[in-house]
Formats: sequence, structure tokens, C-alpha cells
Amino acid sequence: MNYEESKDYLKRYLKARIPVITINSSEKNRILRLIKEIQDELNYEFNMYSMSDGIVDLKTGNVVNEEKTLMSALDYISEEIRVKNNGNYILSDITDIASPNIVTRYLIDIISKAEHTSNVIIIISSENIWPNIEKLGIGMKLAYPTDIELRQTIIDTIKPYEDRIKVEWDDKDYTNAATYLQGLSEMEVKNIITSLIVTGEVLKSDLKELKYSKQKLFNDIAGLEAIEIEEDFDIAGLDNLKEWLKEKKVLIDPNRKEELSQRGIKPPKGVLLTGIPGCGKSLCAKAISNIFNIPLYRLDLATVQGEYVGQSERQLKEALDTAEYVSPCVLWIDEIEKGLDDHNSAITSKLIGQFLFWLQENKKPVFVVASANSIEKLPAELVRKGRFDEIFFVDLPNKEERRELLKLYGRKYLRVELRDELLEQLTDVTNGFASSDIEASMRNITYKLIANPDMRLTESVLIDELKRVVSISKTNPEKIEAIKSWGKSRAMPASKIIE
Ligand SMILES: Nc1ncnc2c1ncn2[C@@H]1O[C@H](COP(=O)(O)OP(=O)(O)O)[C@@H](O)[C@H]1O
Ligand SMILES: [Mg+2]
Repeated sequence: MNYEESKDYLKRYLKARIPVITINSSEKNRILRLIKEIQDELNYEFNMYSMSDGIVDLKTGNVVNEEKTLMSALDYISEEIRVKNNGNYILSDITDIASPNIVTRYLIDIISKAEHTSNVIIIISSENIWPNIEKLGIGMKLAYPTDIELRQTIIDTIKPYEDRIKVEWDDKDYTNAATYLQGLSEMEVKNIITSLIVTGEVLKSDLKELKYSKQKLFNDIAGLEAIEIEEDFDIAGLDNLKEWLKEKKVLIDPNRKEELSQRGIKPPKGVLLTGIPGCGKSLCAKAISNIFNIPLYRLDLATVQGEYVGQSERQLKEALDTAEYVSPCVLWIDEIEKGLDDHNSAITSKLIGQFLFWLQENKKPVFVVASANSIEKLPAELVRKGRFDEIFFVDLPNKEERRELLKLYGRKYLRVELRDELLEQLTDVTNGFASSDIEASMRNITYKLIANPDMRLTESVLIDELKRVVSISKTNPEKIEAIKSWGKSRAMPASKIIE
């Protein structure tokens, strides 16, 4: 239930004079705000017990019972409801109410009295409440604030400081900040924003840190890890994949969320990248997080698998729940086949089923990027149409792509612009290279140049060095052929084909 819904229900329960309303939440302040709004709208009076103040009239703030122990508060309320009708009493900060004990039994006694005199006891607790108490009335749970509420909280927190500190954020930045922080309580969000305010400036670059602030609240989820990536890296080629991603970016943009859901458009589920090792699958997974501007989490299926009965399922559930909680995010499962080719095939197929079910049912913006080198090891149900939004095949770089790669790493490592004629030659020499072969050989040449100050970078040095490389097509031709023939028939090419 969100804030407005909760308020509506609570109003209804109060009007119906249900003797006990339990609210399970750790956000006491948010609930009190909600009750104060009801107090004004319905013109009801509330007395609230807390350990720090005893019992206070919520409207005036006047103390009505100074004694601070829970027992004396219960004595007071018990006496009040015996003689008065239609009162409302809030109990907050109370502990030890999960099981039968002196306090809970006393409460039950009070609640049955309250029922006869139309009094209402509201219990706010972050702990579980003894079911025998809940049974006498009704329980509510207040959901974490929505992104719209959080946006307001963030604005309200920053506003008082606006003319004293530098605030770079615009409307869109507020929306993005709220999206990044969704799943946190109002208090947690206020604290995070306040920690920005005290630095004296709220900058656009702070948003980057916010992206990962939720992650600090969970640390020990087996198999799930937040990956921080450098801002800029270039990907040569793979133009089909890049275009497809640009289209999907719109569907995951928090600023378009409202509009898209009104039109019944769901966020995309994800993509499976298959293909030849060293041609950019892992690189693309990281790039997607940059392109979408949402954080990246890596899920390692091998780590998720535990040795005890049910442990794997539980750990996978925990990891997927967490991914939903930190959404929007990219959930990256690298080399998915490795996590799934376990000797214990019963567990493996259970995990696949569980994962596919989640992929189907999940409504949160978690964009899954799975990558796989050897698809023959992948279970058929995973690659069936409709599981992912698309399956791409990443092939060896074609001629145009090799030229791009050579240019890219020539600039990056060698710090030179290779002239067109030479590029043409090198492009031919590198036929059959994986992208990583090109990257690695350009890097090696750079090492040599740095290590030997007398060596000069000439065209023949470049050509000779590249000719010496034993590329992936030479070391493992059968495997490459097998991957190619599968990929070409069953997946969308990641590159624009020009050969
Ligand atoms: N398309 C590409 N553009 C630029 N560099 C690339 C490309 N593909 C691969 N590389 C280089 O090769 C390395 C290995 O690529 P990677 O993405 O890990 O391959 P894999 O497909 O096996 O996951 C990358 O870190 C990068 O340096
Ligand atoms: Mg990889």
C-alpha cells in the first residue's frame, strides 16, 4: 500500500471504530504525518505514547501522562477507556510484542475493553506483532515511499538550503535521484540527501554516487556484486546491437515511466548476447549500464549455488529480490553457461526454472544482460523465443569493424592516427582476429615501444607484429565454426553485415 492508499484505509478503519489497528513499519515519522493529516481531515483527537515523552496529545503537544514506562501508559489508557468513549490511542516505540507475555496479555485486555466503548488503539511497530493481538483488529503495512513521494522529499530537503548552497539539479535530475533511491525509507533518503547538502553543493556529478547508495545497505548477498565502471569506453562496430539498445533506452528512462505505463508499455526484460569469445560481449554489458545510465550488478550463478538443500533456490531468490530492490538496474549474468553446467543437474534445472519464472513475472525495471560463449551448453528453454527480448550473435569483427578497432586502439595506445592506406593493409592482415586479438596486439606493440626507447614505430613494425599474432581463428577453428553456425541460424547479428 502506498501513502495515499494507506491513508484512505486508515480513515476507513477509524470511522469503523475497529478496536486495534496494527501498523507494521519502521517509518514512524511518516506514519505520524499520515495520522496528523487524518486528525485534521476528520477532526479526531489522538493521544500518543512514546518512551521519550509518555502520553502526549498529538494536536497540542501537551503531556497528558508524564510517566514514561509502557506499563504506566497502559494503566492510564486502561482507566481512560473505562470512563470515556471514542478516544484514539497510539502506541509507538513498544517492544516485546511478538509473543505472549505480560505486556501483550495486558494489551489484549485493553483492546477488548476498547471494543465496548468505541475506543481505538493504534500500534506502530517495526517488529512482528503477536497474531492474537492482530486478530482482534486489522493489520496494515505501509509500503516504502513511491518515486513521486521521494521526489517531493528530496525537493523539500534541499529547498531550505537553496540560496545558501550551489544546487545544480534540474527537474530531470530530481526525478532520476528519486528513481535511484526508491526502495529506501523516507528517513534514509533524507539522510543521504542531507549528507550531500553538508558538502555545500549538490552537483550533477553527485547523481552518480546516488546510483550506488542503495547498494551500501546490503552487503552479503551471495552471488550479487555491484560493478562500478569507468565513464567512457568506445565499442567498435556492433551497430545493430547499438541501435537496438538506443531504442530500448527510451523504455527504461525514469522520466518517461508515467507516459509508457499509461500506454501499457512494459519495461524491456533483457538481452542474451552469444558469440565468439573476445568480441565484445562483456564490454557491451558494461556499456549498456552506461547507455541506460543505471547501475550495473553482476549475478554469478556459480556462487549462488550452495551445498545444502534449498540453499541455491533461496540464494537466487535473495539475489533477484535485491536486484528488484535496487532497480532500475542492469543485471549482468556473464558466461551464463558456466553457472549452469553443474554436475548436479537437478539443482541446475531448478535454478533455470526459477530464473525464467522470475524473468517472466518481474515487473520492476531490471534489465537482464546474459552473455554466453558456448551456446551448445545452454539449456534449450533459456534460448527459446520470448524469454529475452532479443538474442544477439556477436561474430568476429568484419572488415569495417577491424578498421574501427585498429583506429581506436592506434589512437588510444599508440597515440597515432593511422593513415588510410596502412589501415587497409592492417585490416587485411587481421582477418580472422577476434576484437580482443586486435586490442591485445596493439597493446603489446605499445609495451615494446615503451620498453625500448630506441625502437621506432614504423609501418613495417606494425605489419610484422600483427602478422605474428596467432588469432583465435587459427587456434581453435572448429570451435569458432560451431559457434558461428549456431549463432547465424538462431540469433540476430550484432553487426551490420557488409561482407
Ligand atoms: N567491439 C569492441 N570494441 C572495442 N574493444 C573490444 C571490442 N570487443 C572486444 N574488445 C576488447 O577485447 C576485450 C575483451 O572483450 P570482451 O567483451 O571481454 O569479450 P567477450 O565477448 O569474451 O565477453 C575488451 O576488454 C576490449 O578491450
Ligand atoms: Mg566475456
